[in-house]
Amino acid sequence: MTSSTSATDTSRISISAHYTGYIWYKHGLSAPGFITGMGRVANAALSPVNAFLRLVAGADIDTFLLQRHSVIDHQVERLIEEEGVEQIVEIAAGLSPRGYRFKQKYPQLTYIEADLPGMASRKQALLAEIGQTSGHSVRACNILQQEGDDSIAALLASLDPAKKTAIVTEGLVNYFDLATIRSVWTRMAEGLKGFPAGFYVTDLYPDFADHPSYRYVKFAQKLVGFFTRGQWPLHYPSDAAIKEGFQQDGFNEVRVHDPAEFYGKLNLPQAKTQTLVRIIRASV
Ligand SMILES: C[S@@+](CC[C@H](N)C(=O)[O-])C[C@H]1O[C@@H](n2cnc3c(N)ncnc32)[C@H](O)[C@@H]1O
Repeated sequence: MTSSTSATDTSRISISAHYTGYIWYKHGLSAPGFITGMGRVANAALSPVNAFLRLVAGADIDTFLLQRHSVIDHQVERLIEEEGVEQIVEIAAGLSPRGYRFKQKYPQLTYIEADLPGMASRKQALLAEIGQTSGHSVRACNILQQEGDDSIAALLASLDPAKKTAIVTEGLVNYFDLATIRSVWTRMAEGLKGFPAGFYVTDLYPDFADHPSYRYVKFAQKLVGFFTRGQWPLHYPSDAAIKEGFQQDGFNEVRVHDPAEFYGKLNLPQAKTQTLVRIIRASV
């Protein structure tokens, strides 16, 4: 594992993984081994905020987290079952149980979880403790590193180039300004072209200025920024703009999913107003 320079060291963001990790557990999507004291405390600290958001906006933070989590799971399942994807690389996996759950359901998969070195070490220890299966591994990756051992290119180079491959990110892309994350997406698209088929699945919080709860979104934006000591910018004003952006970054087919499409079909909570998150499935 190479060490990050200060310009590419975004480990301040890792605290958020404790919170989301606790949310997956709280809603029955995870196992006790994945939760941390910090996650428990963050959940308790944010419970008044969640109660306020439920009252004024008809949905709380958990609602949008669970929506994105279920729809990403669904997209990844489709890629495995319908497109024949055999290798999954989940970047910024944090304390998410997705790899653990997918390996239980699809034991034949190669599933690599990647995160910044500190979080990757923590996840490795956690998986070793709960029982790691073959084909399930963890490694360090910093999406901002353009080259070297921890780069996306090195991560993809460690895979079998003969197998259809998908990259997954959740809760990552809005921590970066658009130019920075677009350069990451461009490098992902480039790297995925080395496989017989390459896919990318991510969530994205767009800048829907006419959303009825926009002021609460701006509030949530400040909250996340406060906890992670940085910015949390929203990207693209519409689904069409998202699609066009991903195509410019090197992806061919780009689908933009609104979680509301899956109400009544997947196990996900419904918001009383329009949804705030989008799930992108793009291929090269
Ligand atoms: C909100 S958490 C999401 C964790 C997990 N995907 C989930 O949904 O529970 C954000 C994650 O991004 C990781 N991260 C932050 N900066 C990163 C970077 N430059 N490269 C890779 N991962 C990064 C953090 O360590 C953290 O695990």
